[in-house]
Amino acid sequence: MKIVTIIGARPQIIKAAALSRAIKMQYSDRVQEVIVHTGQHYDDNMSQVFFEELGIPRPDYNLHVGSASHGVQTAKMIEGIERILLDERPDAIVLYGDTNSTLAGAVAASKLHITVVHIEAGLRSFNKSMPEEINRIVCDHCSTLLFTPTQAGFDNLVREGFPTNNEGPYTIDNPKVYHCGDIMYDNSRYFSTIADEKVDLLGSLGLTETPYVLATLHRDGNTDDPQRLQAILDAFLELSESIPLVLPMHPRTRKMVALLEDRSKTERLMKDDRIKIIEPVSFLEMTQLEKHAQLIVTDSGGVQKESYFFQKPCVIMRPETEWVEIVETGAATLADADTAKILKTAQQYLKQPPASFPTIFGDGHAAEFMLQKMIEL
Ligand code: UD1
Ligand code: UDP
Repeated sequence: MKIVTIIGARPQIIKAAALSRAIKMQYSDRVQEVIVHTGQHYDDNMSQVFFEELGIPRPDYNLHVGSASHGVQTAKMIEGIERILLDERPDAIVLYGDTNSTLAGAVAASKLHITVVHIEAGLRSFNKSMPEEINRIVCDHCSTLLFTPTQAGFDNLVREGFPTNNEGPYTIDNPKVYHCGDIMYDNSRYFSTIADEKVDLLGSLGLTETPYVLATLHRDGNTDDPQRLQAILDAFLELSESIPLVLPMHPRTRKMVALLEDRSKTERLMKDDRIKIIEPVSFLEMTQLEKHAQLIVTDSGGVQKESYFFQKPCVIMRPETEWVEIVETGAATLADADTAKILKTAQQYLKQPPASFPTIFGDGHAAEFMLQKMIEL
């Protein structure tokens, strides 16, 4: 079977590592993978670092699309992906998550009648002002095989009319949905021990013996609204008075922080010894930061989940989440961009961490399950 895998943004490169690893270990005689990087993320620390560290094969193609408005970026991707699909004639295209690279792959492939496989299907925030929500819905409805990481993802698709007990042959009009666990859990399990053997970011930050909070912030709804961005940074400044905070900063966020009106606050933030603002880190470094943190504060989808994998409490800086099960267990709380709520929730979790983390994300073998279903298509 020949598959074309589309990657572009950081989390997709990371997710693709799990599938490529499973192909290499168990399916190399049955699955040929052609990797296409759209170039949506292009800084070395947002892209190249993951290939080297996670052993992902070099992309066969790079479209070098770069940053642009949604329309321009997605259009360039569709054009480039269509050309490659016409040349490569794969049996299926594999798409991850909900970025513009996912959307472009879904549109290009489905119009050429190429089978779409969507990994991380069915997630919904029920907030269509998020670009990701549009991307997910379009991709799911162009797909033939849909792999949902959670039960909520499966239930959402059933609610949207996807059949449950249907027989093959599967097509775009007779799609098959499998609830099979999360491919990111495969990765976190696999790299958890390797991280502490191979990197020592905590040592370099002087935090080996010191409790700290890990934070990430990049969602456009937070970064591109100065009031929300300032409210979140105010919470970080105040929280850091009681515990140091590490913030690997997404390039989008760095650009938007530089535009904030209150220069004195921004300078305080940038110079504050207790807030370690660093460049985006590698996946092994991130894994190490997550494993040893007391608490994680984030608006990232992936980091919310990893926080749960490593049994850390999580303050989610969004009004809602697709990962509803994490909130239902009490291991995470929605605090939006509300300074007081972020602080209060963080302090509560630091005082009293969640007691249990029931299984939500499968058994860490989602990639093998997906490959098996793909070759049975
Ligand atoms: C994208 C995804 C988002 C995902 C995130 C993961 C969409 C619509 N959004 O958001 O779902 O959570 O990736 O990180 O697909 N930039 C750089 N260097 C880079 C990449 C980006 O400087 O290598 C800067 C540029 O100023 C760019 C901005 O970041 O305009 C935003 O990048 P973009 O890929 O459009 O969206 P993300 O916010 O990264
Ligand atoms: N990540 C990383 N380095 C960083 C920040 C995040 O390796 O500096 C990883 C993180 O561990 C997770 C993924 O990137 O696996 C999440 O990506 P991101 O937060 O950019 O996007 P989202 O998951 O919200 O789409």
